[in-house]
Amino acid sequence: MSLAKQVAVITGASSGIGYELAKSLARRGCPVGVLARRQDRLEALVGEIEAAGGRAALAVADVADRTQTGAAFRSLRDQLGPVDLLVANSGVGIPTLLEPMNVDDVEQMFKVNTLGVVYAMEAVLPEMLERGRGHVAAISSLAAFLAMPGESAYCASKAAVNTYMECLRMQVRHRGIHVTTICPGFIETPMTAQNKFTMPWLMKADQAAEYIAWALERKKTLYCFPWQMSLLITVAGWLPSWFVEWAVRDKAGVRPEP
Ligand SMILES: NC(=O)c1ccc[n+]([C@@H]2O[C@H](COP(=O)([O-])OP(=O)(O)OC[C@H]3O[C@@H](n4cnc5c(N)ncnc54)[C@H](OP(=O)(O)O)[C@@H]3O)[C@@H](O)[C@H]2O)c1
Repeated sequence: MSLAKQVAVITGASSGIGYELAKSLARRGCPVGVLARRQDRLEALVGEIEAAGGRAALAVADVADRTQTGAAFRSLRDQLGPVDLLVANSGVGIPTLLEPMNVDDVEQMFKVNTLGVVYAMEAVLPEMLERGRGHVAAISSLAAFLAMPGESAYCASKAAVNTYMECLRMQVRHRGIHVTTICPGFIETPMTAQNKFTMPWLMKADQAAEYIAWALERKKTLYCFPWQMSLLITVAGWLPSWFVEWAVRDKAGVRPEP
């Protein structure tokens, strides 16, 4: 179960869950490769990890760009060695609006949340298959399980991640590769900072990172947390859709004020 000495790469490590997870994996003895677009944030993270006695390397890339993503992973591999654990975590959450329709935002969510996962997998899977071992994970969301008005693209992009990861898991399970899908509830990060509504069972990002690291150590296939929010989403899925519409009527599809 130990992750010590496993080379881990985390996308979207410049903030929130990814930032805390990088530190959490470094504390467990992983050399950590961190990737995102904001170099200054990655440099600060690498500094924190190294100051605590860990090993880290950074690469800058937009995960919506396949070429950039591939190059960034090659750079991290050169610096740290073959990747043992990938956590595809980069994500964006933007309401899906109607008047006017914000199709640019929708494209961005599918490019980052869904294709960003695929491009990261492309960067590590060939070598993992060659070596006959490895572990790939994606940070999806409990939103993958529940259709919510005004969140069409975010929910759909995460539902696509869940399906992609589950199919991949079946495809590689006899090749020595583990696949984990992580579905968090509300986590206190810049992504949720602008939400004006009450977020039930809101969890601190460092605590969420510890939960995720725990699930990675145990090579869980699907890990949903916190359990209270997971249960609520499961029950909501059994209820008529008008109930969900009513429950989130003043929360979903509202672009936060600047
Ligand atoms: N917070 C929650 O309540 C919650 C709940 C469920 C699931 N999640 C999921 O958890 C993941 C992390 O979210 P978070 O809450 O930690 O949000 P966050 O603090 O906003 O962090 C998002 C991370 O994704 C990176 N990112 C965004 N667009 C990118 C791009 N085009 N290329 C590369 N990296 C990009 C950002 O880095 P740069 O801007 O520097 O590129 C940042 O490091 C996301 O996949 C999110 O959907 C979050």
